[in-house]
Parts: sequence; structure tokens; C-alpha cells
Amino acid sequence: MNNYQNSLPSPEQRVIDLLSRMSIEEKIGQMMQISYNQVTRDEAEDWVTKRHAGSFLHALGDDAKHLQELSKSTRLGIPIIFGIDAIHGHALHNGATVFPSQLSISCSWNEKLIEEAGRVTAREAAADGLHWTFSPVLCVGRDLRWGRINETFGEDPYLIGVLASAIIKGYQGKSLSDSDSILACAKHYLAYGESIGGRDSYDTEVSLRKIRETFLPPFKMAVDAGCATIMAGYESIDGTPVSASKKLLRDILKDELGFNGFVVTDWNNTGSLVYNQKVAGDMDCAAKKVIEAGNDMIMNTNKFYDSAVKLVKEGIIPEAMIDEAVKRVLFIKFSMGLFDEKRQAETAKMAHVFNCAEHEDVNLRITRESIVLLENKKNALPLGNGVRRIAVIGPNADDIKAQFGDWTFFSHPDPKPDTVPLAPTYTMLAGIKELSEKIGIEVLYHQGCDIMDTKVQDIKGALDVANKADVVIAVIGDCLAQNGEGKDRADLNLSGAQQRLLEELKNSGKPLIVILVNGKPLSVPWVANNADAVLETFNSGALGGKAAAEIIFGEINPSGKLSISFPYHTGQLPVYYNQLPGWHGGKYMDMPEEPVYSFGYGLSYTSFKYSNLTLSQTSCSESDIIHVCVDLTNTGEIDGAETVQIYVNDIVSSVVTPIKQLKGFKKILIKKGETKTVDMPLRISDLYIVTPDEEYVVEPGEFTIMVGSSSMDKDLLKASLTVK
Ligand code: NOJ
Repeated sequence: MNNYQNSLPSPEQRVIDLLSRMSIEEKIGQMMQISYNQVTRDEAEDWVTKRHAGSFLHALGDDAKHLQELSKSTRLGIPIIFGIDAIHGHALHNGATVFPSQLSISCSWNEKLIEEAGRVTAREAAADGLHWTFSPVLCVGRDLRWGRINETFGEDPYLIGVLASAIIKGYQGKSLSDSDSILACAKHYLAYGESIGGRDSYDTEVSLRKIRETFLPPFKMAVDAGCATIMAGYESIDGTPVSASKKLLRDILKDELGFNGFVVTDWNNTGSLVYNQKVAGDMDCAAKKVIEAGNDMIMNTNKFYDSAVKLVKEGIIPEAMIDEAVKRVLFIKFSMGLFDEKRQAETAKMAHVFNCAEHEDVNLRITRESIVLLENKKNALPLGNGVRRIAVIGPNADDIKAQFGDWTFFSHPDPKPDTVPLAPTYTMLAGIKELSEKIGIEVLYHQGCDIMDTKVQDIKGALDVANKADVVIAVIGDCLAQNGEGKDRADLNLSGAQQRLLEELKNSGKPLIVILVNGKPLSVPWVANNADAVLETFNSGALGGKAAAEIIFGEINPSGKLSISFPYHTGQLPVYYNQLPGWHGGKYMDMPEEPVYSFGYGLSYTSFKYSNLTLSQTSCSESDIIHVCVDLTNTGEIDGAETVQIYVNDIVSSVVTPIKQLKGFKKILIKKGETKTVDMPLRISDLYIVTPDEEYVVEPGEFTIMVGSSSMDKDLLKASLTVK
């Protein structure tokens, strides 16, 4: 048997042997990722048999199986890697578990559960013959106009890095060679979410210093967590498209951070250099740029193949440069055991895993923890004994598409908006009805209005329903058409007739509970001021309605905390908490300085008291790890979970640094009346600044350490620390 086909030698040895047998066409083929739904079946087969494509995306189940069989029959039999956007669950496959969106689960601040969700997604995608998910998104969600905020873990680089590392661990499992492990893909490298005006895939005006301070840290954490692949974003940074940036891909990602997996471009990034961004005159020039910059796999630019072969044959690109890319791709294929029968046989046995009871249980637990209680005036929630009849009103009360959000079979790869979900789902209405029936409460329903179309409304009808009930639950927000790639919004107010509907409902004089079902924070100060209680659910997936109902009726005590801040007005953006101190720069004359709701904020049905903040050392050096301790007491009437957050401020630094930055957190369950001392490590080397020369330096001096329940000053205890 040829060496590379023998499973005993190491992946490295097998790569060397296989590479030595490959023609230049076979090598370039390994760099190709073909989009299955952009080619005919015959073309797809040709890509396997004649041009040796290394990867496909969006081919599922039997289609993937068929192509894999074909690849085995080729001269070298190199298996294909199949990739999918399993973004919140393996949700492009109807019947699989649909988790809440990434933004939603980030509000759980629960790494353990997020890792479990990653595991579930991996098992279900792997059972479908897939090897790779283009997840997680590590973009820092700061301009809320951007259409892809729903895909982020929120606005803070540290929280993003911690949660990303957890889900990567979940996807990749104990070993890549396990039959239920899939490759993670940290994306979109780099600063994609920071594009000017929140306009998707546009230019980003950030310096390398800022990149190192704010946007690179989550990617560093992902690399350290062993993330196998990284996707280069669509955007340009200060005029250079990321896919054409040797500095970002080779110098920083591969050489400096030591990333040893492979880099895939985003969708047709190579073509975009010619047709959209116009930094290349033709495909040969674009191909040269992306190879030289350090991209290892080319997503959906099929013309790259001919250009790359030509560039090598003409001596313009050295073959050694292609070898470097192909080695990375093959190394992952060997590490995953794709050449070995064992993985294939085991995968075939896993068909029963889709939304199985164990997976549904993980989904329910994470959904419960992801919902954030934003308002609860006079303890309007949980609903009390006096309630006999509830009116559930609003365009998102019974809309599973709005609740699922982006990246499910409703929207990708070819949108199927009329599909009926195969696995059980609970809209808000369904969840409230099920629990209400159990306790003998009647539920009335009216849609009230449409999200987008101002002509589709029956506010009078909705009011008639409201008038018959003891309490109104208004379910409002946004819809699929307002979230996702290229769906940036200039206006974050409630669209359609939703605001009018709310105002009329308020005028009815009934207690008003608002449930927000939305991709991302909207500008809803009226809701904050006027609703008796507000639950933020974002895109809560299949079980959102069940979990929200459990919270409404007090079966579950909410514990979610916002991972992203809410503005008073679109013109107030950006409102992220970790602002820079400035002269007059902090505030508009016609807006408050603070956001409506700040990062880290979220209420509980119980109350917590923080006391006795102590540091194990108040004077330390850069190599120390100190302990930050605080006493936390549950002072309310029921058990609850609280997320204790540590923020740091460098009081005087040689460059302007944020007024506070999250550096640690811990979510703990605490029984009523109980006090726990919470002990959290703080690594002093994490208190670095980035200098104008792009150096990382911990500057001696005073720091303020802040600990509490949110990023707002009023919620934080403070202590002083000196770094020598
Ligand atoms: C483009 C998106 O930007 C990226 O996030 C996604 O993974 C790819 N398309 C593949 O669908």
C-alpha cells in the first residue's frame, strides 16, 4: 500500500508522501472549494473527477455521499471536505436542532452550555456526511446598523473570545479524527463588523494598532483554542481587501499567531478583487494576489483554477507556494481521518441524532439562559394568580421564521420560506398557550400588524382582543428581511405599524408585557419607558416560545445578560460600553450619554448584593496572576443565577484606552439567602496596551478593578491596583 494510504504514519508523513505524487493540477484542485448549488450535477462531478476539487460547500446528505464516492475513484483518491453554514445548529437541514442565534446564546454567558451546543451541532452535521462548519463568527458587533449583528457574540472582544473558544471546542470535540467532530472556522478575519456606516463588506478604516487592540484578540484566542480553519472576510481594511493582505494573513495570522490550520476565502473574494473592489485587472492578477497573501482554499471562484495552474506553469508563482497551501489542507484531511475507512463507517451509524431528546434538552437549557429580562416594573413578571385571560398580540407572536432568524432552511442555501419545520417548534404564542392551558388560563391572539408592510394592519381588531384580557403580551421586533448579509439598516426604529400598535395597547390600560423577537438591538426607548416588563429573546430558535413562557409564568428565573448595548436612537451609534475617554466626544447634545441598556445588564426575579471586593495583591508585576474576590448574596426570595463581571481601567496610559474593559466573568447559581465568595483570576499580562508601534506593553501605574452585575458604574464595586 502507498504510504499516504496507510494510517500508521503521522499526518505530516502522509502529507509529504501524497504531495510528492501530485501534479500541479491536482494540487491546485485541492485549493478549490466549489459551491454545490452554483453548478449543475454534471459540473460538480467534473470538478471531482477532472479537476480534483478539494472541497464543496452546501452539498448535503446523499449528494455529498455521491461526490465522496466519486473522489475515491480518482487517481489519488483524495477525499473531499464538505463544508456547511451550521451557524446556530445544523439548521440548513430541516429536522436538525435549531439553536438560538449566536447573539442570543452569547447572552447566556455560559461557556459550558455553548460548548455543549457546539457538540450537538457537530454530531448532527457529521451524521449528514459533513466535516466543517463556517462558524463561529468573531466579528465585534459595534455598529448596530450592520445586517450581521445577529451572527456575532456581541460587542466585547474578551467575551467573544471566551465563547468562541468554547464553541470551537464543542465542534472539534476531543479529536478531529472522531467521527462526530467537525472543523470549526473562525470568521470573518478581520474587523469585518467594523465597516464604515455598518455597510456590509465595505471598507474598514482601522489602524493596525486598533486591530491589535480590539479585533485581533478574539482570533488569537480561537487560534490558541486549536481552531482548524479561518475565513478571510469580504472587506477591505484601509484600502486593502483582507484576502489580498499578506500582512494580515501570512505575517500576523500564520507567522505571529502560529495558526497552523488553513485559511479559506469568503464567497468569491478572489473574483471580487476584479469585479467589485477593483484592485486586480483580471483573474490571473487576482489569483496571484490571493496566493501570495496566504489564502489556502478559494471559496466559489471557479476561474481561479485555470489562472493558478497557468501562473505556476509560467513561473510567476513558485510551486513551493502552492505546496504550502496544499499541505495545510491535506494535513487537516489526514488529521480528520478522512482517508481512513473507520470514520466513514461510524458516520453512517449516526442518522438517529437529529434533534434527539438529548439534543433538544441542550437546546432548551441554553434557550432559557439566553433570554434577558430588561424591565420588570413593580414585579409585573412572573404573572400572578389573578390572571385569567391573556392577550398575545403582535406580528412576531406566531412567526417561526422571525424567531429562527438567519441561516436556517428558510433562508439558505436556496431560500424555502414556505417549508414546514420537521422538528417540534414553539413560537411565543405556542409556548404561552401550552403553559397557560396547564394552569387554566385562556389565551387570545391577534397579529395586529405586519413587520414591514404598513398597509397590513388591524389595530382595532388587536385592541378588541386586548380589552377582553387581564394582561397583554405584545410580541414585536424585526424579521428575516431585516437581518443578514447585505441587509444593513439605516433606521433601527420599530418598522411598519408596530409603534402605533404598542401605543394603542398601552392606552388600553392593561398591563403591557413586551417580548422582543429580533435579530439585533433596536432603538426602543419607548418600550423601555412604557412596558411593565420586557423580555429580549433575539432569535431564540426552535424552543424560544417554550423557554419564554416558562419565564413569564415563573417556572424559570431569568439569568441572561446583554452581550450588546441598546441605543436611544440610530444616530447615537456607536453605543458599545468600552468607549474611549475624550474631550467633548462622549455624547450628542440631544441624546443621553448612556445607552438604554448597557452591556452586561439583565434582571432576575431575585436580587443580588455585592460586597467585600478584595484583591489578593494590590501591588503586583506583569507576570502575576492575582485573585479578585467578592461576596455575592442572593437577597431575594428565590434561587437564581448571576454573572459576576470584572472590568479594568488603566487610569493613565500612553495611548487613550477604553474607560472599562471586560477581563473576566463567572456565572454562578446561588440559593436564596445564601452568600458565596466568588474568586476569579486576573492575569496582569492581560492589562496590556498596544503602542503606536504595535507593541504590547503593560505600563506600570494605577489600575481600577471593577466588579459587579453589569458594565454600568452604578453596578460596580471598585478597588485599586498598582502594577510595578
Ligand atoms: C458568505 C458569508 O459571508 C460567510 O459567512 C459564509 O460562511 C459563506 N458565504 C458561505 O456560505
